[in-house]
Amino acid sequence: MTYVIRSVRADEWPAVRELRLAALRDPIAHLAFLETYEAAEARPDSYWRERTARAAEGADGAQQVIAEGPDGRWVASVTVLVEEPGTTDWAGLPVEREQGHLVGVYVRPEDRGSGLTEVLFDAALEWSWGRGLERVRLFVHEENGRAQRFYRRAGFVPSGVTVPLGESGKRELEFVLGRD
Ligand SMILES: CC(C)(COP(=O)(O)OP(=O)(O)OC[C@H]1O[C@@H](n2cnc3c(N)ncnc32)[C@H](O)[C@@H]1OP(=O)(O)O)[C@@H](O)C(=O)NCCC(=O)NCCS
Repeated sequence: MTYVIRSVRADEWPAVRELRLAALRDPIAHLAFLETYEAAEARPDSYWRERTARAAEGADGAQQVIAEGPDGRWVASVTVLVEEPGTTDWAGLPVEREQGHLVGVYVRPEDRGSGLTEVLFDAALEWSWGRGLERVRLFVHEENGRAQRFYRRAGFVPSGVTVPLGESGKRELEFVLGRD
């Protein structure tokens, strides 16, 4: 199947919402994402409009890259958030340098293991390096073996930074990739 890999456009917020809600219904969503389906589903349209505009083609602070099938259906997504030094990240840790943070990594089940995820990542990384970022990071749950394996294949390595997840005793692991 031939997919178009591209950045989202600001007016495409309904498709952004649909794919995000599909991701949050995945059987491993509790490991993969920090948000619940119920919380996302309850958000107003204004939230999706703003979120999409902030990460759309031409935006500087974030970029959402998707894979679109020949029928126009979106099958995969990854978003690069640009983090600035002096700010605090989602875990409350200080950000020490400008860097990319990959979030919302999702490929529909029927398109996994096909090589599509690599192409999607290539586009997100190309945007990151073109934006002048020297380092890109992401967090992955310690029990999300499939995602970890993919990230290693894509060149990411664990940095040793871990973030405890509430009372569960489980952790999110930071993986990083430097620009060549
Ligand atoms: C994570 C994700 C984007 C990876 O994309 P993918 O197309 O599935 O990745 P691939 O199949 O190319 O690579 C996964 C690797 O893990 C292996 N694998 C498959 N199931 C596995 C499992 N249960 N445990 C460990 N490894 C597994 C695959 O064989 C493959 O190994 P290889 O590198 O030796 O070929 C996709 O699986 C996904 O959307 N998962 C649900 C959402 C998610 O977890 N997002 C990440 C949040 S951090």
